[in-house]
Order: sequence, then C-alpha cells, then structure tokens
Amino acid sequence: MPRRLWRHQDSRWIRRLLPACDNDVSLARRQLTWLKEKTRNPTLLDRHVYDRVVRHKPLQYILGTQPFGDLEIVTRPPVLIPRWETEEWVHRLIDILLPHVKAKSQGAQERPFRVLDICTGSGCIALALAAHLPPHRTQIIATDISDDAIALAQHNYHDNKSLIQNHVDFQQVDVFSDAMQRMDPFDLIVSNPPYITFDDYKDLDPDVKQWEDVRALVADEDGMAVHRRIVELASNGLLLRSSKLQRQGKGESSITTTTRIPIPRLAMEFGGTHQAVSLKRMMKPMLNDVQVWKDLAGKDRVVVGA
Ligand SMILES: C[S@@+](CC[C@H](N)C(=O)[O-])C[C@H]1O[C@@H](n2cnc3c(N)ncnc32)[C@H](O)[C@@H]1O
Repeated sequence: MPRRLWRHQDSRWIRRLLPACDNDVSLARRQLTWLKEKTRNPTLLDRHVYDRVVRHKPLQYILGTQPFGDLEIVTRPPVLIPRWETEEWVHRLIDILLPHVKAKSQGAQERPFRVLDICTGSGCIALALAAHLPPHRTQIIATDISDDAIALAQHNYHDNKSLIQNHVDFQQVDVFSDAMQRMDPFDLIVSNPPYITFDDYKDLDPDVKQWEDVRALVADEDGMAVHRRIVELASNGLLLRSSKLQRQGKGESSITTTTRIPIPRLAMEFGGTHQAVSLKRMMKPMLNDVQVWKDLAGKDRVVVGA
C-alpha cells in the first residue's frame, strides 16, 4: 500500500482503537504499532482492531505472546495472561534466592533445591525460576487445575527451552485434592492463586471477564480460599520444616538456619491491602519472617515468609 494511504489508514485505526485504550491516543498509537509488527496485511489488521474493540479481545491474545523477563510466554485464551506485577516480584525473589541456591549447590552431595509453583497458568513463574536458578540443581513441579493451562505451560517450556536449564514437571492437580498431600516436601512454594471475590468479579472489564478463565480469577473466602489451602498444606508437611518449628525442637536441619538473610520459603501474590492482614496472620504461626512486598505502583502485592 502507498505510504500516504497507510498514514490515512493509520489514523482511522487509531481512532477505532481509542475506546479500547481509555481514549488515550498515544496508547492507541502504540497498540497499532504492536499490531503492525504482527501483520502488515490491512485486512488482517482490520480484523485485529475489530477483535480488540468490539470483541474486547486482550492485545496479548491477539499478539500471541507476552514477555516475562527474558522469556517470551505464549498467550492463549482462557489461560491467564501473565501480569507485570507478577513478573516484578518473581524477579525480585530470584535475586534473593540466587546467591543462596548457588552456594548451596556447590557441595557435590547437596540434594537439589525443590520448588513448587501452585496455580501455574501459562507456567511463567515456574519457567522464570527454571531459567534463572542454578542449572541442573533445581527441581521444579508446577501444578494447575486447568488442562488448558497445563498444555500451554508445557508448550511454553518447550518454546523457551534454550533459556531453561532446569527440568519443570507440569501436573494437572487441584490444590484441594488429596494428591497434594502425597508430594514430597519442597524448599520453596510460590503461587499466584485466584484472589478476586465473586462481587468484585462482576465489575471487571469485559477484556478480562469474556476471555480469561473465571477459575484463574475468583476464589471463595474473600478471595483467599486457595491461599488458606496452600498455608495449610505447607504447615502439614508440604514445605520443609521451618526454622521456627526447629527452634521448638521439632525439626531436622533446614536451609534457613544456616544463613543470616531470611530465605523466602513461601511467596503468594494477592489482590491488595484488604487481604494483607489476614494473609500475614495465616502465615505467622508457621514462618519466622513474614513480609508484604509492594508492587511498582505502591500496592501491597505479595506475602513472603521465610
Ligand atoms: C491468577 S492465575 C495465575 C497464573 C500464573 N501463575 C500467572 O501468574 O500468570 C491462577 C491459576 O490458578 C488455577 N487454579 C484455580 N483454582 C485452582 C485449584 N483449585 N487448583 C489448582 N489450580 C487452580 C487457574 O487455573 C489459574 O491458572
């Protein structure tokens, strides 16, 4: 198409994209640029703009991928699109874990560092850990209730294989099932579980409600049913004994007692300040050092226990 016609067509697409971009022209322009990186075919671009504006299809599902650190995660409805908030805390966690796991893996006899990612979705958290923790020294199991999620996570594992040097075992398991109790204990549990209440779900944008699995978003008990279940599993043996338990004389040697900086052992994302107090209260009997980390927007985002 001649350049002048492209320019005219561009402003038409930008105008059409505006309602999906809160009437923010620069955002609409950016979205058009990304769409044009996917295709230069005007008929296909028309189709994508229609999907975006009329069908409320999230841009990441149209583009087909979403970066998560250095990984390129394939996005496919109805599996939750990885969010920047998650990407941020996961990389902060990796920065804290890395020296510890490296030091621990020096000893030839050391057993592998075992990680469990519950509610893995696209696999983004498990895969980021697998890519950045020391190679061949980390064992990661990632679970989800949804077969769509497990299939996509496995796909993402193979797509990003060149960056990943630790095996990840993806398993379709309901966190409320007995199968969880039969797993061997882990050094670290991470999770971004569903945390929205049914009432709040009603007010979500159609981009979210019409495309992402409701199971990825909504949970009972004020949005904290899955968090509560994870804490219960962790305190009943799914997590290696904490140093708090050891001081009470109940445990064997644990990684947390040998280092001065608390090493995170359980990290769970949540929805905001309204859930922070309950989550801290849930975790405190089991772990020594329980902190709430804020995201870059200043919102309480993840509860981390060491
Ligand atoms: C908020 S999404 C998180 C996905 C991914 N970890 C991320 O951060 O993008 C929550 C995930 O929990 C899964 N899920 C919901 N209920 C579950 C349950 N009872 N057992 C296991 N997984 C569950 C959903 O299928 C969904 O993939």
